[in-house]
Amino acid sequence: RYFSQLQSPHPQSPSSFGIAFDIDGVILRGSTPIGGSPQALARLYADSGLLKVPFLFLTNGGGIPESRRATELSKLLGVKILPSQVLQGHSPFKNLLQRYENQLIIATGKGEPAVVMSEYGFKKVISLDDYASLFENIDPVSQYKKWTTKQVLARSSLAVNSVPKNNASSEAVKAVFVVSDPVDWGRDIQVLCDILRSGGLPGEYNGSEHQPPLYFAADDLQYQAAFPSERLGMGAFRIALESVFNRIHHNPLDYVSFGKPNPFVFKNAEAVMWQLHPSSHINEDTESHPFKTLYMIGDNPSVDIKGARQAGHPWFSILTRTGVFRGKDNHEEFPADLVVDTVEEAVDYILRRES
Ligand code: G3P
Ligand code: MG
Repeated sequence: RYFSQLQSPHPQSPSSFGIAFDIDGVILRGSTPIGGSPQALARLYADSGLLKVPFLFLTNGGGIPESRRATELSKLLGVKILPSQVLQGHSPFKNLLQRYENQLIIATGKGEPAVVMSEYGFKKVISLDDYASLFENIDPVSQYKKWTTKQVLARSSLAVNSVPKNNASSEAVKAVFVVSDPVDWGRDIQVLCDILRSGGLPGEYNGSEHQPPLYFAADDLQYQAAFPSERLGMGAFRIALESVFNRIHHNPLDYVSFGKPNPFVFKNAEAVMWQLHPSSHINEDTESHPFKTLYMIGDNPSVDIKGARQAGHPWFSILTRTGVFRGKDNHEEFPADLVVDTVEEAVDYILRRES
């Protein structure tokens, strides 16, 4: 239990607020801390190093297991982050375990998508990289590609070595998970179209009525990375796949997207935040002990702010100017409760408001 790692400044009246931090464009750009994020986070810990204010990261990004992301963030930001404080776009996929635990599923995206899924407990997961390699000539331009995915292959093979690979090409794929931003859009669109329009058997009859379920970890059109202007995100990939699929198949692409602004993500964050709260051991029931305020600090109006606004009470949205949003005033369509320059300013405001 994590509450033992927390320390309430006033044990009788534990803090009734918590903070959810977006990562890309608020805490980091690429892997560089921005907006005074290390200093801002340090203020949420007591001198003893224990947490004073429950907080977590609520990102639409991902590609590595939450435990590894927590270690990475701890190193970059200089504070001790627990795996339970990291909610990534793909984290809700673990709720689908019962449905697909022993079924053949495909995982794609940057990082180690198959490792992520096998850590959630899925037993027959294979990365799209590995899967594509089972079909000769499935990617007609592969010989022109100069890059190598060897390192990724070696690691994901370890995680999925329980999958009899040779059988995987003759067994129908039961579901596809886009875990993180796809690396090779052309190859992925080709192979996903093959899987989805053939009922899960690439190269077989292409007019199958049954499309295997397709899940996206998020639907961000653009996000802020290290480059000065926004980069195309998973939502852009979804549009590309959908446009092509709908031109070559009689039924439109059927899919489900997780991630912010989905209200479920904010409900889940509230429950997880409660587990981080010092008094969660006294009362396990989130509903009867609600937070007075939960702050969402984000850089993307149509994702972070829209999501917090839709989630309603007790969410309070704060928009920074360090990422996708650069406006002088508030965003017109999805105005935040507060607009600040940086995450450090946001935390300063919260701590003053709550003191
Ligand atoms: O790929 C990451 C991106 O879609 C958004 O990340 O942290 O801004 O939600 P974040
Ligand atoms: Mg962001």
